[in-house]
Amino acid sequence: MTQTINPRKAAIIGCGFVGSATAFTLMQSRLFSELVLLDANEAKADGEAKDIAHGIPFSGQMKIYAGTYDDIADSAIIIITAGANQKPGETRLDLVHKNVAIYKSIIPEISKRDFQGILLIVSNPVDILTYTALKLSGFPENRVIGSGTVLDTARLKYALSEHLGVDSRSVHSFIIGEHGDSEIAAWSSTNVSGIPLNTFCEMRGHYNHDAAMDRIAEEVKNSAYDIISKKQATYYGIAMSVKRICECIIRNERSILPISSMMHGEYGISGISLSMPAIVGLNGIETHVPISLDADEAEKLRESAETLKKIAAELDL
Ligand code: 2OP
Repeated sequence: MTQTINPRKAAIIGCGFVGSATAFTLMQSRLFSELVLLDANEAKADGEAKDIAHGIPFSGQMKIYAGTYDDIADSAIIIITAGANQKPGETRLDLVHKNVAIYKSIIPEISKRDFQGILLIVSNPVDILTYTALKLSGFPENRVIGSGTVLDTARLKYALSEHLGVDSRSVHSFIIGEHGDSEIAAWSSTNVSGIPLNTFCEMRGHYNHDAAMDRIAEEVKNSAYDIISKKQATYYGIAMSVKRICECIIRNERSILPISSMMHGEYGISGISLSMPAIVGLNGIETHVPISLDADEAEKLRESAETLKKIAAELDL
């Protein structure tokens, strides 16, 4: 019998900084009426669930509890944040072997319960783990989404909003490619409410375009390194990014988000998962949105894909 889906239920596997901040954010969002937490350390999951549940009277009625794989099989979304996180000086790609091994213990537990919802991959390196989850689960590609560069894109919008003195929600721009060192700011399509970026910059008294764009792209790319060197981890930004993706799915918003998913020939890239803008709704990924890239951006995107493909090719999946 096919597993049913409870459209108001989500699960989080991994209750470290990212998993627990995500649970806290989802509790406040009121998107779900049931949220199940799992962790290899069951007491930690129980402690986080109880602590977060004590905020429910200030937010809205729901259940949050520590559970088992059997409890999560009918979730609409399973969010996986489990795995080692970056230590100061480590790249996201340094985590690959540890975290692929962890995924090999998690994903079969989900697929053998005939899970029919959306698998949302958050652990790093997120693009490689999205690819890993897809291969290990055998789920259709639309149901396996990586949080990708949704966070990097938010960082970019925030940095541009500070630079230009404008609401970050009026800035339209994407970071694409790897969520990591080879990511690309898609400057050629960036605009502020339809006004090309350079025109808007000049309206706000900024004329040194190349230097400003280089500085902002570097700042965005190095954000996690900067924060991790200061507080050991990043979690609030990613928690909000995960909440945004969940909202888009549960409410079938069909927003365009730069999530990580399998590529099939777009820009000459296939056989790897990376971030490109895509329409996201109730069934997960509906379709990629082929934003226009200039020749340099398209070339960098292909290089980013090559970096990821080399790593994926070494995995025994
Ligand atoms: C971040 O970008 C570490 O991937 C995490 O904050």
